[in-house]
Amino acid sequence: MFQPNENYLKLPGSYLFSTVARKQREYAEAHPDKKIIKLSIGDVTQPLCPAIIKALHDAVDEMASADTFKGYAPDLGYEFLRNAIAENDYKARGCDIAADEIFVADGAKSDSANIQEIFTQNTKIAVCDPVYPVYVDSNVMAGRTGTYDKETETWSDVIYMPCLKENNFAPELPKETPDLIYLCFPNNPTGSTITKSQLQEWVDYANKVGAVIIYDAAYEAYISEADVPHSIYECEGARTCAIELHSFSKNAGFTGVRLSYVVIPKEIKRDGVMLHSLWARRHGTKYNGAPYIIQKAGEAVYSAEGKAQLKEQVAYYMKNAAYIKNGLKEAGYDCSGGVNAPYIWLRTPNNMTSWEFFDYLLDKANVLGTPGSGFGPSGEHYFRLTAFGSYESTVEAINRIKAL
Ligand code: MLT
Repeated sequence: MFQPNENYLKLPGSYLFSTVARKQREYAEAHPDKKIIKLSIGDVTQPLCPAIIKALHDAVDEMASADTFKGYAPDLGYEFLRNAIAENDYKARGCDIAADEIFVADGAKSDSANIQEIFTQNTKIAVCDPVYPVYVDSNVMAGRTGTYDKETETWSDVIYMPCLKENNFAPELPKETPDLIYLCFPNNPTGSTITKSQLQEWVDYANKVGAVIIYDAAYEAYISEADVPHSIYECEGARTCAIELHSFSKNAGFTGVRLSYVVIPKEIKRDGVMLHSLWARRHGTKYNGAPYIIQKAGEAVYSAEGKAQLKEQVAYYMKNAAYIKNGLKEAGYDCSGGVNAPYIWLRTPNNMTSWEFFDYLLDKANVLGTPGSGFGPSGEHYFRLTAFGSYESTVEAINRIKAL
């Protein structure tokens, strides 16, 4: 008799953004006359830039002729894309990463959920609190997180690193020693970040205790300050302890196109076993490679035209971020983020819980955001707004909030 995977039954509620979407649907059905502005999930709204569109069209044309048609992609990614990544995202920044240490895939959400598979069952994970929910939920599904405490909203076998206003939303080194540390900078959801010397402390710590850092750099394109690292490999010693995740969703608008990559340096080893080999084996078994057409679009991200056009797109969203932050400040909100990241993190007014504020904002301003408590217990009394809307709708949303 079959038995469902009981680890899934331990997950409290549904996935955060599914709950937000359900609440939006219910509200829209009950109030069909209201125009809801969505500043909740970090989904882009601007069209793909012309250099990427051209690459897509050209690649589609190649598929129309037997001479240039492509079948299965190499499971680790086409050389042309891996070389472009190695050259532009690493060599140009003085980071020592080879093309064959880069694994191309179809999205950083799935990469961040899947990466835990190459670690042993009793791996102790440490996460920031608040945190992108996928890191914890994927470990719950793998049966690695112990029991859930409804009161504290925490798992018994997870190390939580609170990111609060008092520590500038930057985690402190944990007291208990983890095996796997998830870090995301610039941070989702708080929009905060850390300097290169702060990140170096994490790398030194991981090397000292023999831990691996999963470094999610999905938002690096939004960095505007000079001392903020774009890659963990800017730090000395990262090649022996850090795996880096990259998304094309936020820097190039690929949320609906799907493309990502994972970097695993060959120097991360335990008893002679390279994590690189395990991930390659996993990819070979479970994945047939991101589509050729999409990888050609990814290559265009690194062309001269692509770079210039995407710089403008990032600036467009960061103009939204500035509008949100300034507007909220004028309205008396305590908020942060929005300088090196497309997220604004605000304290809810009048001590409202995050979900109370969610309902209040949806009902009174018809603006949809994301409750901070959905990212972890330290996110309670906080709320996240994204800068990925159109400029016009962002302005309207903030003006509605200011008028409350
Ligand atoms: C978010 O809103 O946190 C992100 O868009 C979710 C994601 O990238 O999967």
